[in-house]
Amino acid sequence: MIIAIDGPAGSGKSTTAKAVAARLGITYLDTGAMYRVITLKSLRTGVAACDEPALAELTANTIISFTGVLPDTKVWMDGEDVTDAIRGSEVTKYVSDYCAPSVVRDALVEQQRRIAQGNSVVCEGRDIGTVVFPDADLKFFMTASVEERARRRQKDFEKLGVSKTVEELVKEISLRDHKDSTRANSPLRKAQDAVEIDTTSLDLEMQVKFIIERALPLLKQ
Ligand code: DC
Repeated sequence: MIIAIDGPAGSGKSTTAKAVAARLGITYLDTGAMYRVITLKSLRTGVAACDEPALAELTANTIISFTGVLPDTKVWMDGEDVTDAIRGSEVTKYVSDYCAPSVVRDALVEQQRRIAQGNSVVCEGRDIGTVVFPDADLKFFMTASVEERARRRQKDFEKLGVSKTVEELVKEISLRDHKDSTRANSPLRKAQDAVEIDTTSLDLEMQVKFIIERALPLLKQ
């Protein structure tokens, strides 16, 4: 069974997807983490987002893997634990540029499909219901007001020791939303058959319950 969860930054996708996967005992796939790994490696090695041949080579030569059991999962880049490094503010600032070229997207989408093959997966990202798994069993599109998303991101950054104002984050998130929704390749958009969940005033438990109630009958089939 594939559960696709898409939505903009800070809409509650990650927390919800992790909780759903943990409760159903199925694989959690964070596709945003994969684009972040490519961004981190490009920034470290000085590869520009517009240099498609170099980006294609870098992507082909990068081994991205996930280990551990929720909530203690780790993200690895060529054998290095980059779980925290990919959440840093530089990577967050530039990831929308590095995730747009098709040389990056095509390679990562192929890896995402391979990871899901033969498994039950909760997969979250921006193009999961539209491009990666158009035949997913369940599709959700999570949204929330930009102010609420900025407040949530502020808390995430606090945990990493980074202090940012809500106003600053509203600007950053709006810019990233704009780039993610207007790019030519697999832009962020709701699949026609996705169920929209506005999480502005929902708590995590409500979001998780909403999805689990729809997933359980399918798992029992
Ligand atoms: O979910 P996130 O914030 O970790 O995602 C990081 C970036 O990766 C985000 O700007 C959009 C991009 N992304 C994407 O284009 N397609 C996906 N399936 C997942 C993420």
